[in-house]
Amino acid sequence: MDVLSVTSEIFPLVKTGGLADVAGALPLALAAHDISVRTLVPGYPAVTNALKRGRVVAEIGDLFGGSAKLVAARVGGLDLIVLDAEHLFDRPGGIYVDDFGKDWTDNWQRFAALSWVAAELAKGMVEGYRPRIIHAHDWQAAMVAAYVAFGGDQQTRVVVTIHNIAFQGQFGADIFPHLRLPDAAFTMHGVEYYGGVGFLKGGLQCAHAITTVSPTYAREIRTPEYGMGLEGLLNQRGYDLHGILNGIDPVAWNPQTDPALAANYAAANTKKRSVNKLALTSRFNLDHSEGPLFGLVSRLTWQKGIDLIAANIDWLVSLGGQLAVLGSGEAHLEAAMADAAVRHPGRVGFVQGYDEDLSHLMQGGSDIMLVPSRFEPCGLTQLYGLRYGAVPLVSRVGGLADTVIDANEAAIEAGVATGIQFSPVDSQTLGEAILRAINLYAEPETWSRMQRKGMKTDVSWNNSAGKYAMLYQNLAADQ
Ligand code: ADP
Ligand code: GLC
Repeated sequence: MDVLSVTSEIFPLVKTGGLADVAGALPLALAAHDISVRTLVPGYPAVTNALKRGRVVAEIGDLFGGSAKLVAARVGGLDLIVLDAEHLFDRPGGIYVDDFGKDWTDNWQRFAALSWVAAELAKGMVEGYRPRIIHAHDWQAAMVAAYVAFGGDQQTRVVVTIHNIAFQGQFGADIFPHLRLPDAAFTMHGVEYYGGVGFLKGGLQCAHAITTVSPTYAREIRTPEYGMGLEGLLNQRGYDLHGILNGIDPVAWNPQTDPALAANYAAANTKKRSVNKLALTSRFNLDHSEGPLFGLVSRLTWQKGIDLIAANIDWLVSLGGQLAVLGSGEAHLEAAMADAAVRHPGRVGFVQGYDEDLSHLMQGGSDIMLVPSRFEPCGLTQLYGLRYGAVPLVSRVGGLADTVIDANEAAIEAGVATGIQFSPVDSQTLGEAILRAINLYAEPETWSRMQRKGMKTDVSWNNSAGKYAMLYQNLAADQ
């Protein structure tokens, strides 16, 4: 079966977060289920520069204010269709924001264009290719569902996946006339949202099925606390909303072969992790210490609970812990991390920025991976932590609740614990969890049992790819 995946980022070409990892790994996992995925992705410079032998498969005279081409190419096992549109995507800076961190003012045009092209592909824009299922990721692609629904296409089925409901793509009503949608789409049954245009809202309204990236998040977003205003719509959609847990790419993230590590290892020889810990402490200018090294690899934002960590750094250090932070984001949180590194030389280190290789070494060398998010649709860093033996310390929300087994007494006794969970998500409870982690670390046998249990947990797509395959098949059967 042919599926067209539509995404605004994809690893290894362009990545700002977990969406890229998922968009890059899921097609490879689906191949084993006889699903052949092609991925439509914007032609940002990082993407077009990586194309070696691209083939132009369609030309578009007027795509929201300029001409465009579709270029088919294969990169690292992925079948791509690149939307090469200079006026929309060929510019320096971030993929969503300019050099000052402000959203590109034409984001509505850029991602409406991406979605419109996907709907045209389903109608046969490229000869010999007519995917019957379109899988659209997040608000940047969600409008595909509206273009299909209001474009008279009765055959194509659209799945919209919510990776983070906090980002909704909301714009003023003034853009509506430029969206190439009929007037009938500007109602509560279409893309209209509180008087403006909601890209995610429109997509969720029109999609044939909705998924999100963990079962717990699927429940959470039906409530006002997590639904960010869309809980009513999601409740109306009833059984059309599915929670399917993310997996990881087991080749890109394998401690036995990872070239970014100072030493490779398996669950049977975790002692070798100490070589990575040494490489990490020297990279972060930390002292040699017998205490546990906490790692944080994250966007530095409110969602991720970074302020809760900042409030606990003195406590963590006073207990004999060390902390290595890799991340960038909100200025006040970056400042808090930089300040902590100055206050605790040799105990706390901060690398500001984005560094893919270093993120791997963090997983291979940290003892504990911190993920104290206020909400977390799935979360991948705790999955990488499990696979690499960096025991995750997580808040009990979303995918974090679904993927880590808390080391309470019963779980330790039964040998099933894989990490530490805390709830409610506040700084005091995080502080208690840090103490619990440090105490557990002081019991080497318990610790290494927990570490090995985590490393043996299957966090690949094995369990989830089949669920997507079944969803596609059910939708196709419904045509
Ligand atoms: P989100 O997508 O909400 O940011 P996830 O946990 O799903 O959270 O995915 C984050 C991804 O981005 C992971 O692959 C993580 O390793 C990576 N990442 C986050 N911050 C950095 C950074 N500063 N440098 C390198 N990789 C990072
Ligand atoms: C989003 C979420 C994160 C999830 C990722 C991939 O960025 O914040 O929790 O893991 O998408 O689905």
